This record gives sequence, structure tokens and C-alpha cells, in this order.
Amino acid sequence: MTIKQVRDTQAPFDLTERPQPALDSLTDHPLIVADDNLEFMQRFPDGHFKLIVTSPPYNIGKSYESKKSLAEYVSMQEKVIDEAVRLLDENGSLCWQVGNFVDNGEIIPLDLVLYPVFAKHNLKLRNRIAWHFGHGLHSTKRLSGRYEVILWFTKSDDYTFNLDPIRVPSKYPGKKHFKGPNKGKLSGNPLGKNPSDVWEIPNVKSNHVEKTDHPCQFPVELIERLVLSLTEEGDRVFDPYLGVGSTVLAAELHGRHGFGCDIDPHYIQQA
Ligand SMILES: C[S@@+](CC[C@H](N)C(=O)[O-])C[C@H]1O[C@@H](n2cnc3c(N)ncnc32)[C@H](O)[C@@H]1O
Repeated sequence: MTIKQVRDTQAPFDLTERPQPALDSLTDHPLIVADDNLEFMQRFPDGHFKLIVTSPPYNIGKSYESKKSLAEYVSMQEKVIDEAVRLLDENGSLCWQVGNFVDNGEIIPLDLVLYPVFAKHNLKLRNRIAWHFGHGLHSTKRLSGRYEVILWFTKSDDYTFNLDPIRVPSKYPGKKHFKGPNKGKLSGNPLGKNPSDVWEIPNVKSNHVEKTDHPCQFPVELIERLVLSLTEEGDRVFDPYLGVGSTVLAAELHGRHGFGCDIDPHYIQQA
């Protein structure tokens, strides 16, 4: 990724010396910073971002996380979600992409345990999108997991949703009405159909063209769909667990302003 704007005064890859950029420099530019998300987020005013989309650690012992009890994990997530809700525009969307916490062979779907945290803020769940992919571990004691979930919430009933930019090809594009006043006219939308709440998008595994050394990065296409449908050009998009920067890339590709932070300077360097 090439789009990166970090102030000259900041030492972005050294978390031990971390001068706080002035607020005015943070508000209007694409920005990627190595920082703890709670510290990063507190520098922005209420309602600053139109779309906040992220994939937090799942508490399954990946290289970037230390495993906690489920209660500790939820309480840590609650702090970040509370702050994300503060930063969300009244017409904006919050998308939390999660899989399962696995405890001694038992799976705990994280969207279920985190839902009450979002509900506490009266956010409105618009879709529970199933992201289906073909690759992953082959389980021997249960069915292999091949989907994860994106919880899409809005802050109010008046929210941006643009369907046309994310339509997908219709199954029968030339199909016509065969009777009635529209007989002979196309029956479907010529721009394609609604992509539904099941998204078939390859995950970023070893041979994927976007692969870095991050163990679970977003495919850019997944975030592009959210950016295109839930924001307008010029809107601000933020990812508090940015990893190698897929969210900011998707935002900038479509004329939005991307913001993100990750606690690991190595990932920020790759972003
Ligand atoms: C599931 S990964 C997200 C990957 C990202 N979606 C991508 O496309 O690369 C979670 C990320 O959260 C980061 N992280 C963990 N704790 C953090 C914190 N307190 N503040 C900011 N980032 C954190 C980890 O370093 C890791 O890169």
C-alpha cells in the first residue's frame, strides 16, 4: 500500500516515544499510525467517521494477542466499541467482523457475545452478513469452519446505503416479463441484483495476490463493498485494528479518506 500520511513530527514505528499529533492534523487526511486504538481514538471529535469497520483479535492466541478469559475479552472490546460509537456519524455505520473464540474444542461465536455491547448503545442491526470462503483448517472433530460474520449496525434510521455500486450480475440477466403491462420488458434491474447477506469472497491465504505476513488480513474486496454502499465520496472511514491496511486502501481507492491504527508497528510499516 502506498497511501500513508503520518506527520513529520511523529515517530510512527517507535511506540516508546509517541508524540501526540495535533488534532487539526488528524482530522482531514488519510492517516495510518502505529498506536493503541483507545489512545488514537480519543484524539478525534464525536461523530467524526461515516464508517468504522474492523476485525478485532478473536482471542484465539494469534501472534498479535495474548489469550484472555472471555469476560476480560468482552470488557476490552466494550471499551473500544464504546469509543467507536462516540466517533460514529449520526448517519454512519459500524461493521464488526468476527469469527469464533475456540475454548477447549468448544466454539463461542463472537458476534453473539458482543451483540449486547452494541445493543446497549441502541445501535440498529441492519444485516448479519455471512462471509463465506473456501480455505481454512480441516477440522477432525467438528465441521470445518468456512464462514465468519460481519455485524452491520447503523446509529440511526437515517443512514447512507447505496445499493447500485455493489450490485452483482443477475442469474438471468435477459429475463423479461411475460405478461401484464410490462410484457416484453426486462424484469430485473439492468445494473444487477442485490448481493444478499451471504458474500462469497476468497480469504487471504498463501497464494492470494494480496498476502502479506499478517495471519488474517481482510481481502480488499470485502471492505470495498462496505465502503461503496455505506459511504459517499469524501467521507471518512476508520479501522481501529488496521493490520496491514486493507480498510484504508479500500477507502482511498474509492475517493474516501482512510484512517487506521494498529498496535504493531511492523504491520503499519507494511500498510
Ligand atoms: C484480526 S487482525 C486485523 C487485520 C486487518 N483487518 C487487516 O486487514 O490486516 C487484528 C489486529 O489488531 C491489532 N491490535 C491488537 N490490539 C490492538 C490495540 N489495542 N490497538 C490497535 N491494534 C491492535 C493486531 O496487531 C492485529 O493486526
